[in-house]
Formats: sequence, structure tokens, C-alpha cells
Amino acid sequence: MAKTNDPSAVVLSVGGLVGQEVNLDEFLHQLVDRIAHAMQADRGTLYLVDFSRGELFSRAAHLPELKQIRLKLGQGVAGHVAQQGGVVNIPATKDEQRFNPDIDKLTGYRTSSLLAVPLVDAQGTIFGVLQVLNRLGGGIFEREDEQRLQDISAQVSQALQATSLYTELLRAKEAPQQPVSYFFNKVIGESAPMKAIYKTIQKAAQTDATVLLRGESGTGKELFARAVHVNSRRRTKPFVKVDCAALPGSLIENELFGHEKGAFTGAEARQPGKFEVASGGTVFIDELGELPMPVQGKLLRVLQDREFERVGGTQTVQVDVRIVAATHRDLAQMVREGKFREDLYYRIKVVELGLPSLRARGPEDVERLARHFIAQATKRHHLAREPHLSLEALERLKAWHWPGNVRELENCVESAVVLCEGEVLAEHLPLPEAGKSLTTSATLTTPKDAPVSTLADVERRHILGVLDRAKGNRTQAAKWLDIGRNTLARKLKEYGLGEE
Ligand SMILES: Nc1ncnc2c1ncn2[C@@H]1O[C@H](COP(=O)(O)OP(=O)(O)OP(=O)(O)O)[C@@H](O)[C@H]1O
Ligand SMILES: [Mg+2]
Repeated sequence: MAKTNDPSAVVLSVGGLVGQEVNLDEFLHQLVDRIAHAMQADRGTLYLVDFSRGELFSRAAHLPELKQIRLKLGQGVAGHVAQQGGVVNIPATKDEQRFNPDIDKLTGYRTSSLLAVPLVDAQGTIFGVLQVLNRLGGGIFEREDEQRLQDISAQVSQALQATSLYTELLRAKEAPQQPVSYFFNKVIGESAPMKAIYKTIQKAAQTDATVLLRGESGTGKELFARAVHVNSRRRTKPFVKVDCAALPGSLIENELFGHEKGAFTGAEARQPGKFEVASGGTVFIDELGELPMPVQGKLLRVLQDREFERVGGTQTVQVDVRIVAATHRDLAQMVREGKFREDLYYRIKVVELGLPSLRARGPEDVERLARHFIAQATKRHHLAREPHLSLEALERLKAWHWPGNVRELENCVESAVVLCEGEVLAEHLPLPEAGKSLTTSATLTTPKDAPVSTLADVERRHILGVLDRAKGNRTQAAKWLDIGRNTLARKLKEYGLGEE
């Protein structure tokens, strides 16, 4: 839905309201009312950060709330924006993991689309979130709406900083804070190796030490990278992720360090990189092993001297960021092969954490995680009742060797919850029948005297096996494999299996 209203009109009226801040509640209520109206949204909410508790609370809503909403930072869409900044535009809440349906239950509202932006003060601290939403049957927010709400948010942030409310919020921020471990509510696992990891992460989080997370795919590297951030003093500043495997090598430098105007054809304006965007917060460098050699040198300088130059620039930029990196590769081996700088390797692994595979965590953790994911899928799919986990299904889960680790378990359980009727039976689990080995297990072990398969061969067999298990459904197979649908299509094409 294209809007015709001019955002500056809202802004002007906001300015006018600040001047007559007689009754704060009335002021905020009118503010949100005007924002929802200007955005042609069904509803608007202003959230503020409670720095003393690491939470976000609804301070004013376009339609009166029954109850005040409180969220942990990082929880739900608004909590996510409060923690990480950036614009989040969700056209369909039913397809969105970050959307927390509990809030709808609390307000009795059926949200279908949603747009949220942070409120940021002059020091760059996120102190609130502006959110507008449409109910079921309403429209979606478009690109231009994102810019519009950001413009409004900039003006609102400025206006709010002049109020006593803002001063109060900040006072709580300066007050000594309770050590926070709330993030670990979301992390399941009580096996000995996991307990050791929680301890190290909580200790490391109190410092600015660089952390290197190692582990197979799906072991929770990203989850724990966030845990480091959320448990650190940087929690109210951005957490910014750069995935080196998702970007061509030539673009990684630009992504991390930004560029100056005219640095290359098409660079029409200076653009800050992720290090600048994350100022005061944490940069999570995922798949560090894919970082090209020349960029490794530049990263080393950031680690040593906290400074760099933008691509095509000569001016030195100082940064205050904490770096957390992750890789599934053996970096020590890469150093020996001359593919990874030794000096960077030592600089980055100040705190090194090897996340255990799910196999190594034992059957109790598999059970805990399975029950957790059943509850999560029940919520996500708005099921009236949580399905019961049958003994046989539980045994099957415990017996499987989980090559895709926690992510594979999460997907397996979610698909069973969706398919089952009240009870998750073994037959609902997308796992090979007991006794038969799936392509995955067959390809993972190579008997000593068997001819050695090439990696490409193993990959092809694995992909085809998974596709088979997904009964030819490419979207499902791509999800299980944790690759994009386009990547899967490209690979299938290479194997001579064109479009469906
Ligand atoms: N201990 C845990 N408790 C609850 N959920 C977990 C746990 N570990 C991982 N998960 C969930 O499993 C999924 C995969 O985790 P994550 O993305 O952090 O893995 P990863 O190691 O980064 O994988 P990859 O190398 O494939 O990127 C996520 O949905 C995450 O929330
Ligand atoms: Mg990851």
C-alpha cells in the first residue's frame, strides 16, 4: 500500500507535542496515534528499553493495551530490533520465526504484517522501538514505508531525548546491573560439555576478548555468538553479522570496511561498513575460514589497533567493536597449508570454544532439545495443543547420529509436529527406518579398504539422498541441507537434473 501522507507532517506534529509535554501519557498516546495514521497501519506501538533488566516494554499503543507487554531484548520482533538495530519488515508473521505469537494472545490481536525500527539517541544507543502492524486481512508494508518509518523514528528519537522519560531510562542504564544470564533460558542442554561452555561464555562476555567458536554445522555457533553479545556490556548496542561464505570474496572487504565515494564504478556515495555500523557493539564474522588473504591482514589491524581505512580511502577510521568469529574449518590446518595467516589465527582465538556435536552431547540432551523444539513448533504453527512425544519416536531420535546436529533435530521435530495428529510417532519423523542407513550415514564412514570417494561424489550422493527423503520436495530438501533453494537448483543442474 503506497502512502500519500508526508512524514514531515507527523514529525511537525510530534515537535508541536513536545513543546506542550504536560501529560506524558497523553503525549505518547497521541504520538503513536499519529504515527499509525501516517503509516496507514492498523496499529502502532512505542516500546522503550528497560536497561536495568535488559528488557523492552510497551510504553504507548495506538489502541490501548490490555496489559503492558514486556520482552527480553532479542525476543520477538521488537526485542530483536532493540538488540540489533536495523529495520525489520515482515510481510507475513506466520512465516517468521522471530515473531512471537504470545503477544497476540496477550492483546487479542491477530497480526499479519509488521514493520519495526529502532529509536536511537545521539550517542548511538538504542533506547526503544517503533512498531506498526496490520491485522489479518490487512496490507503489507513496502520499501518506501521502511524509509518513512525510519524518518519518523529519527524525529521521534530526537523529540523523546528532550523528555524526562528519556533521562529516567538512561539513569537505569548507568545504575549497576545485575549479571545477566537470561539468554541461557533459550539454550537447551545440560550435558557436561554444554555446562562448561556456558561458564566460559559468561566469563568471556564480561570482557572484550575476541572469541572463536568452532563446531560442525548446526551445533549452535551463531546462537552462542549472540550469547556472548547479550551477556556483555555491549548488549544495548548492535550485534552485526557478516557471513564470509555468503559473499563473494571480492565483496567481503567492502562489507566489513565500507567504501569511500568513487572507490569503484558505482560507488556514488561513501558507505560505512559493518564495523562502523556495529560501533560500540559486536561484529560476528561467520565462516571466518572463507576470509580472503588480503582482507585477513586488514582484520588483523582492526584486532591489534582497532582501526582501518574504508575501501578507496586514506582516512583512518577508529572503531570500538568486539569481534566474535565462527568456523567449521580446521584453521590450524589452514595455517599449515598457508591459507590462513598465523598471526591472525593467534589473535582471534583469545577465547576458543569448540562446540560439541549433538552425538557427543548424549541422548539426554537430544531428548531435552526434542521436547523444547516440539513446544516451539506448537507455538509457531499456532496448534491448539502440544503433541505428545511417543516412546518409540523418542527412541528413534536418541538412536540417530544427527550429522546436521541441532539444526537437523529442530527441522526433523518441526516437520513431525506439523504432520502428526496429537502424537509424534516414529513414522512422522523424517528419518530412515530403523536398521536401514540413510545416505548420510553411509557416506560418512569409509571402510579402510573401500575405494575413496571424492568430496563432490559424497556431496552429490548426500544431496540426492536428502532429496529422496524429502520425496522430491526441493524447498524441504534445501531446508534440511541448510542451503538456499537456488544453490540446490544449481547443484541439481550440475548433476543433469534440470528444473522440476
Ligand atoms: N543448545 C541449543 N539450544 C536450543 N537451540 C539450539 C541450541 N543449539 C543450536 N540451536 C538451534 O539450532 C539451530 C542451528 O544453530 P546455529 O545456527 O547457531 O548453528 P551454527 O553452528 O551456526 O550452524 P552452521 O555452521 O550451519 O551455520 C538454530 O535454530 C539454533 O537456535
Ligand atoms: Mg551459522
